[in-house]
Amino acid sequence: MRGKLVVGNWKMNGGLASNAALLEALTTGWRAEPGRAVAVCVPFPYLAQAQAMLAGTAVAWGAQNASEHRSGAHTGEVSASMVAEFGCRYAIVGHSERRQLYAETSAGVAAKALAVLAAAMTPIVCVGETLAQREAGATNDVVLGQLEAVLAAVGEAAARLVVAYEPVWAIGTGRTATPDEAQAVHALLRARLAQAGAAEISLLYGGSVKADNAGALFAMKDIDGGLIGGASLQAGDFLAIGRA
Ligand code: 13P
Repeated sequence: MRGKLVVGNWKMNGGLASNAALLEALTTGWRAEPGRAVAVCVPFPYLAQAQAMLAGTAVAWGAQNASEHRSGAHTGEVSASMVAEFGCRYAIVGHSERRQLYAETSAGVAAKALAVLAAAMTPIVCVGETLAQREAGATNDVVLGQLEAVLAAVGEAAARLVVAYEPVWAIGTGRTATPDEAQAVHALLRARLAQAGAAEISLLYGGSVKADNAGALFAMKDIDGGLIGGASLQAGDFLAIGRA
């Protein structure tokens, strides 16, 4: 259901000692509130630590990826069911870094979303255009195309997704989309999701969200929260975004 949600994507950052301090600060600083949730998506090796420190708290956790395959000869891969065993509520699929650096295709992302659903977790499906695509006026076609692949694969389970719009040009650049730019894409995604019976899912914005711009973004009609990279590594910043 459509609730406010702020998810930290730690990316390939962390270590046992620094994670412990960060998770401790999050659990101390975050109180459960109806309709408002926070979660952290941590590297695979730290899922057990996240589970140990976050179970029973108001902070949920998840993974940043999962294989589209169920099991077998896929050296180096991690299945959705493995991730689920560590109590994950979420798994990010189709982050632009994976699409760009690891050649993930929209078809592969759709298969991952299905695998995550089959493991009874919520896929956080990322879509977003590059700067070149935006400048060519292709933003809408790109994000709808990426979404379409997932919708075609998951069918009625679309209502169990979270979708994150992350313009590639705003990720880690300090250049965030304006609230109006982000809202325009969110409205488009929401309209397509409504046709798929999924009007009420949470739609997150990601890309240089900070404590000082989160409030204006999250105030927009179709923006239900954020997927936070850099600012999720500092407890104070992340908690401030969660409260925004
Ligand atoms: P930044 O918040 O560091 O721009 O990263 C956004 C992101 O990629 C979250 O998934």
